[in-house]
Amino acid sequence: MSYENILSQYQNGITTITINRPSKLNALNKATIKELHDAFDEANSNADTKVIIVTGSGEKAFVAGADIREFANFDVNEGAELAAQGQELLFDFVENLSTPVIAAVNGFALGGGLELAMSCHFRIASSNARMGLPETSLGVIPGYGGTQRLPQLVGKGKAMEMVMTAGMIDANEALKYGLVNHVVEQEELLPLCEKIASKIMKNSSVAIGKAIKAINANYKDGKDGYKVEIKQFGKCFDTEDFAEGTTAFLEKRKANFPGK
Ligand code: COA
Repeated sequence: MSYENILSQYQNGITTITINRPSKLNALNKATIKELHDAFDEANSNADTKVIIVTGSGEKAFVAGADIREFANFDVNEGAELAAQGQELLFDFVENLSTPVIAAVNGFALGGGLELAMSCHFRIASSNARMGLPETSLGVIPGYGGTQRLPQLVGKGKAMEMVMTAGMIDANEALKYGLVNHVVEQEELLPLCEKIASKIMKNSSVAIGKAIKAINANYKDGKDGYKVEIKQFGKCFDTEDFAEGTTAFLEKRKANFPGK
């Protein structure tokens, strides 16, 4: 599939999706959100893709937010619709993919940009990255899940402060907050993501998909995460990956998972 606002490249088990509107600091307009949905869907459906990395093009920004120009004249219904559609198409969609998604935060991750990074399964940042939810400075609130995912990741008090001040934190502060897992120089960002991806790829993709489901259940209203874990744990016993993983251990060899 070819895209206007993003690039999607597959190599060695990894699909790298790059948001490619550098002149607008990769701001997320509607068309980009739809293209991202399609690219994530395509990568997740491709059995060869074991890990997805998402990043921004250029050296300045991951994503500087939702496209302010596009929603500046919206009314109440259009505003609510924008948030609902975006959450369904992209943010919830990414969070619930069975393929691991790593955000390579290579610069500004603001508003919808930080919300996209927070929808990913974990985040790695370059040292120049700056993160924040500046929506209250525009007279609006985060609408792509930011009020929910930021407190999950950094705790309620820090999330309240970040949202109320509309301020930015740098990469090292984000590391201290637990918002990102690692900070490296920009040129080392994709290599580190790929190194971690290659460790992930050695394990059962089927088991990893079930683990994502169980971990996410902890953050879903009305779901008993322990029950989800029990169900997903049980389902593993009917997979070829489980047969291979346990047999390989008993035969003292490395597992070669079929991913089924
Ligand atoms: N929506 C639409 N356009 C955006 C954008 C956004 N969220 N963020 C940046 N851009 C555009 C700018 O309008 C500018 O376009 P122009 O050259 O056509 O005028 C271009 O990207 C470059 O941005 P600029 O502001 O000139 O860069 P800067 O280095 O001076 O500042 C930021 C960088 C990130 C601090 C600044 O762009 C900014 O504050 N962006 C908005 C962040 C935000 O509030 N996001 C939440 C949205 S809900």
